[in-house]
Amino acid sequence: MIQLYNVHKRYENGVVALHDVTLRVREGEMVFLTGPSGAGKSTLIRLLLCTERGSEGQILIGGRNIHALRDDSVPFLRRNFGVVFQDFRLIGRRNVRENVAIGMEILGLPRKDIERRTEQLLEALGIAHRGAAFPRDLSGGEAQRVAIARALVNEPAILLCDEPTGNLDPTLSREIIDLLSEVNRRGTTVLVATHDAALIERYGCRTLTLEGGRLTLDRPRRDAVGLEASGLGASAVGTASAAAPPGREATQEPAEAP
Ligand SMILES: Nc1ncnc2c1ncn2[C@@H]1O[C@H](COP(=O)(O)OP(=O)(O)OP(=O)(O)O)[C@@H](O)[C@H]1O
Ligand SMILES: [Mg+2]
Repeated sequence: MIQLYNVHKRYENGVVALHDVTLRVREGEMVFLTGPSGAGKSTLIRLLLCTERGSEGQILIGGRNIHALRDDSVPFLRRNFGVVFQDFRLIGRRNVRENVAIGMEILGLPRKDIERRTEQLLEALGIAHRGAAFPRDLSGGEAQRVAIARALVNEPAILLCDEPTGNLDPTLSREIIDLLSEVNRRGTTVLVATHDAALIERYGCRTLTLEGGRLTLDRPRRDAVGLEASGLGASAVGTASAAAPPGREATQEPAEAP
């Protein structure tokens, strides 16, 4: 569970990127975070990851106040998260398989386990046939699939995506959101920052709107969403079922399901 209480973020240059933001995202939800350029979407994601610290307010992840977290505890916090960015951020000198495996290598997992998990994820994301390719030879859609596979290696509870379809055409964008929806259905909480109003309409997920750093709307999930099958393989990304409760209009209190 992610809880923000009256979060305020002022950058060193004096720009106030978030004003008094209070919200709650429950375990297993899939939520779009939208709003115009400069609204504070990336800032909110950076605060969750502690790559930036909030100026005021509280942020709780799984009940733990991360504002109080010491710097040397931040790596432990980050294990809760997988992160996907617009520009993929793959390592150019490593092939697809190595890009996915690296997070597990850093954790010192046994080679057999790394190989098994890597193949499982490449399979699940439909890129097993590109395992030996280097990032420069991938299409945008393929590169983003690799980035998602990499974000999922350590079975994060929460997947944070900052404009994951920003470099993709509408068809590929839908494929990526279909994949994220499937990841969510298997139990991962998914937060997707996007400007793309057409995608938001199509999926009908709960949608939080930021404007000028303020949370101005918390639109509930539209029920009976016709998500397409994504082809995500069976055993890839955990098991818990996805509960995606509705939100409500933004208020001072954290939005909560009935
Ligand atoms: N490191 C920084 N230092 C100073 N100001 C910043 C910094 N990062 C962002 N800002 C400012 O904070 C505000 C919010 O920026 P942020 O990147 O969070 O917006 P965003 O909603 O992600 O925008 P976009 O849709 O363009 O990605 C903007 O006014 C931006 O200029
Ligand atoms: Mg941004």
